[in-house]
Amino acid sequence: MLQIKRAGHSTLTTPDIERMVDYFTRIVGLTLVAREKDRAILATKSGLEVIVLERGGAVEAPRLSFQIAPGSDAGEVASRLQKAGIKSERRTDITPGIGEAVAFKDPKGTTIEIFSDFKFAAADNTFAGIMPLKFGHIAYQCPDVQGIVKFYCDMLGFRVSDWRGDFFAFLRCSRDHHTVNFLRDPKTAIHHIAFEVRDWSDIKRASDCLASNGIKLVWGPLRHIIGHNIAIYHKNPDGVTIEFFCELDQMHDEELGFFEPRPWHQDRPQRPKVWGDGTLSNWWGPMSHSPNRTNAAAREAMPTTALAGAERKPALARARMRSEQKKGRAPRKPKR
Ligand SMILES: [Fe+2]
Repeated sequence: MLQIKRAGHSTLTTPDIERMVDYFTRIVGLTLVAREKDRAILATKSGLEVIVLERGGAVEAPRLSFQIAPGSDAGEVASRLQKAGIKSERRTDITPGIGEAVAFKDPKGTTIEIFSDFKFAAADNTFAGIMPLKFGHIAYQCPDVQGIVKFYCDMLGFRVSDWRGDFFAFLRCSRDHHTVNFLRDPKTAIHHIAFEVRDWSDIKRASDCLASNGIKLVWGPLRHIIGHNIAIYHKNPDGVTIEFFCELDQMHDEELGFFEPRPWHQDRPQRPKVWGDGTLSNWWGPMSHSPNRTNAAAREAMPTTALAGAERKPALARARMRSEQKKGRAPRKPKR
């Protein structure tokens, strides 16, 4: 088993690379660290490469990089993969910060690039846009969620933080509650990409920045229940959902096995668990309201409320409906 320590960058293909470079530099507040005719590499202001754009016909996220322990031997990584029956190849000059990586496909077809050593880009002290701290997580839709979760845990060293029902998994590779999510859907696709910002005041500043550039929030501000992050969501010019978040649950000690206690947790201690299908998506914010969450009537209302919310996120709504159908329950119709 490999032991992933953090996510590196996501590679996104786009039909309009100039427009996306403008969005990621001027709105998101990343720094362009390298530009080729059909490729652009973007880093946070403090020098972490987080997005690679490539010119392409479709909007996809074909590759994702992860860092393992510095100094790890690439040949050893390749041989561990081979023992597990996974074909890989050594690649060089991935980005200015990554000289070498071992690449292979995960079961849903995303190319995973494993690197051990990373050179930070030069710090950029200019002030522009939202300026996130780091790449937080990436969520994918795919048909076999159980299969991909097993692969990420058995092969890459991820741990399961939470499940929503049997259709939405949240996996961690560090203290952060989740670095990858997998949501069951017949179609394999990117669901959203999330960047961490410093705190709640940065969420407010990000909301103002998006509004002043004519970009509407599609969800939030809110506090999620699963992961408990404060979050806002919008669509980028390619239609990909982008999240900014802060205050994500942290597990500082795997042996203790609970997330750092916080007053907004539902359980004390808050341990990884399976949340019911009807769990509200957010504790406060849009779509969180019910007359009284603690009484039976409110619990009865929960799936309807949650489904109404999920309708704005079709893949989540579809997954929840299929889960209910599987259990022999008629899916609830959302209230209008
Ligand atoms: Fe997210």
